[in-house]
Amino acid sequence: MIKRYRGWALVAGASEGLGASFAERLASRGYDVLLVARRVDRLEALAGLLVARHGVEAVPIGIDLAAPDVQEQLRAAVAGREVGVLVCNAAFAPLGGFLETPVEEAVRALDVNCRSTLMLLHALLPAMVARRSGGVVIMSSLTAFQGSPWASVYGSTKAFGLALAEGVAHEVAESGVDVIACCAGATRTPNYLARAAEGGAPGELAPEQVVEETLDRLGAANIVIPGRFNRLASWLMRLLPRSLAVRIMGQQTRKLQTGRTAAPPV
Ligand SMILES: NC(=O)c1ccc[n+]([C@@H]2O[C@H](COP(=O)([O-])OP(=O)(O)OC[C@H]3O[C@@H](n4cnc5c(N)ncnc54)[C@H](OP(=O)(O)O)[C@@H]3O)[C@@H](O)[C@H]2O)c1
Repeated sequence: MIKRYRGWALVAGASEGLGASFAERLASRGYDVLLVARRVDRLEALAGLLVARHGVEAVPIGIDLAAPDVQEQLRAAVAGREVGVLVCNAAFAPLGGFLETPVEEAVRALDVNCRSTLMLLHALLPAMVARRSGGVVIMSSLTAFQGSPWASVYGSTKAFGLALAEGVAHEVAESGVDVIACCAGATRTPNYLARAAEGGAPGELAPEQVVEETLDRLGAANIVIPGRFNRLASWLMRLLPRSLAVRIMGQQTRKLQTGRTAAPPV
């Protein structure tokens, strides 16, 4: 991988969950890593771990990806370093009924999940294309394939990521740059576990499995659905009438209201 995509790896949303796992797996593959999120204390702890464990460079970068000037902040933080791998993983997931969700939260989800992905691509993709070397992962979700009641805004932002990844992947296919959308199902990250129903969801995976399958498919496909159960379930859902698929998805997302642990969702 490191021969194909040269330079640093930048992981947006690296302070916990899947982002921290992406950073760890990329460092294990030899990448120096730029770690972006708001909670700098967590990024510093992760950076220390990666340096000690893998002997790579790791730079914590505290940025609120919902900030209006996010692109300027990103450019300043990257400071001319060559970025060969970009992981757009940061997300804000307001759950619950559309009308009960404060509009500020819905807009924040658009800013973090959609706008910051756009800004990251605009900031880093041109240099990848110019160097004819780059790999981009956009974290989407199984909620991207149909409407997702009780997670309507979140699911819509994930549909944006999926469509963006597929479209851009096609455009840059001849430029030595690979783009993949990861349509993950339920993944046991701390934030997910804080919201998941008792007993969990079918097909739940460990973050490491989602990350390894995604990195392994980068360059081979434009969409990855980690986990055999999730691939089969997604295929079956797409055979159903859309209204039925929406209802089934709603039954799953509704269960996410009650926490399995006492920890509040981030
Ligand atoms: N877990 C699942 O079941 C699941 C399933 C399908 C898809 N996904 C997708 O996978 C990705 C990671 O999921 P996860 O469960 O690991 O999420 P998570 O635990 O909630 O982590 C989200 C990350 O995004 C960062 N972030 C959130 N708002 C930010 C902001 N305004 N500025 C900068 N960073 C921000 C958080 O860091 P700070 O709070 O420190 O800023 C954190 O590092 C997301 O894109 C999610 O949609 C997850």
